[in-house]
Amino acid sequence: MHKSRGLIPGQTREQARAGLKPGNFQGRPPRGVRSHEAERASADAMESHWFGTSRFKRRARVTSMEALTSTGTVRLGFEVADGEPFEFLPGQFVGIEAHFEGRGYRRSPYCILSEPARAPHFDLLVRAIPEGPLSLYLAALQVGDEVLFRGPTGRSMIPRFDDRELVLMATGTGVAPLFSMAHHLLAAGYPHPISLWWGLRLVDDICLTDELDALAGTYDQFSYAITLSQPPPGWTGLCGRLGESVPPLLETLGGKRYYLVGNGAMLEEMEMALSDLGVVQHCIYKEPYFDPIHQPDREIVARIRERFVATDLFSAYAARRGSDLDLDRDLEAARTGKAGNGDPMAVSDLFELLPAFLSHHPDQDDPKPTHVERPWNRPY
Ligand SMILES: Cc1cc2nc3c(=O)[nH]c(=O)nc-3n(C[C@H](O)[C@H](O)[C@H](O)COP(=O)(O)OP(=O)(O)OC[C@H]3O[C@@H](n4cnc5c(N)ncnc54)[C@H](O)[C@@H]3O)c2cc1C
Ligand SMILES: NC(=O)c1ccc[n+]([C@@H]2O[C@H](COP(=O)([O-])OP(=O)(O)OC[C@H]3O[C@@H](n4cnc5c(N)ncnc54)[C@H](OP(=O)(O)O)[C@@H]3O)[C@@H](O)[C@H]2O)c1
Repeated sequence: MHKSRGLIPGQTREQARAGLKPGNFQGRPPRGVRSHEAERASADAMESHWFGTSRFKRRARVTSMEALTSTGTVRLGFEVADGEPFEFLPGQFVGIEAHFEGRGYRRSPYCILSEPARAPHFDLLVRAIPEGPLSLYLAALQVGDEVLFRGPTGRSMIPRFDDRELVLMATGTGVAPLFSMAHHLLAAGYPHPISLWWGLRLVDDICLTDELDALAGTYDQFSYAITLSQPPPGWTGLCGRLGESVPPLLETLGGKRYYLVGNGAMLEEMEMALSDLGVVQHCIYKEPYFDPIHQPDREIVARIRERFVATDLFSAYAARRGSDLDLDRDLEAARTGKAGNGDPMAVSDLFELLPAFLSHHPDQDDPKPTHVERPWNRPY
């Protein structure tokens, strides 16, 4: 039998290791002080080489810093300090980089909260995450401090066509690019309603309401609602996660674009529910902040789907196809809420029928308008 070398009878491996100098765990000769120094020098050289080729070379200076909530949400104002051009469209983000002693460089993207018209100034909305190095670093910045960044980069969220209503859904700081887009589109005359549904946990997480109220007061076509997953007693607003409170409030699903930003699980579950109900993929825009490859739980998705009251995509299909198919009878039943025999019909029964439904999708058939240049398609 193989016997570990160096173990005294009765001694555990941990006890043996405790008596050793660092570095000789795996039977290597102990490293001297010089080799540690050499190792550190080589790590520093690698980092400085990396930094030399890093794309995070742009500089921005903090111009304002405001704690918006007691739960760790801050709003940071920056001005670009490197003299290079800085233009962006809503949905784009900057990559921020910082060095942490003993942990090396960390970099993460942050969507821009402010409107493009204010560039080269830009604001970020940051949630300080316990133990999260970069968010804590940002939340601790002070006016006058400089950060290294790259960008702006990422996709613009501006719709290519001005043919549809916009339904914006965000959890937490996912509201940032939607806030920017709503301001931008409304100021530029976007011709359709824009509704923002914002999922937060606690009443203490609520912020930005002065500006959202001002936007809703200025533009009739804009509305917003906050839904709290952990509301306090006496809260009269929406309660529950987005997938609980919003589906009963959307009267129709067709003719809209859906924007989902924030928690990846919300995005995947909501997207699957919308898609099951007939919303086409090209009308759903997702920007996950974390948990981007969440596998939606079919039962959660089914529960979200069940809460939707809109049946317009089904009934449009039924109207188009006439009554020659059993499917039509069932789709009509979905619209009226009654099965062919007069019994109430559960929406879930319809999902048996989806493959046939989706192959004749009414929303898919919508004629696409030709792309025309609009004021909101261009950066300022
Ligand atoms: C495209 C994109 C845009 C982003 N925009 C923003 C933004 O505008 N504002 C912002 O605060 N963050 C934003 N993030 C998240 C951000 O990049 C960092 O991941 C976040 O700040 C945490 O970094 P950290 O180093 O502090 O902690 P990490 O150790 O990297 O993260 C710890 C954990 O915190 C959770 N988490 C990460 N981000 C959030 C968040 N925003 N809210 C709640 N929980 C979170 C996740 O579970 C994550 O695993 C964005 C991410 C992406 C991909
Ligand atoms: N998980 C917790 O209970 C908890 C509590 C306090 C702080 N934190 C930490 O605090 C930090 C900040 O978090 P945050 O509140 O800004 O962002 P967050 O964790 O993404 O939560 C924001 C909102 O999204 C909801 N949500 C989560 N998963 C969802 C899903 N699949 N579909 C729809 N909505 C969903 C949350 O509801 P829920 O309340 O149902 O999760 C909450 O209302 C994070 O680091 C988080 O881990 C977590």
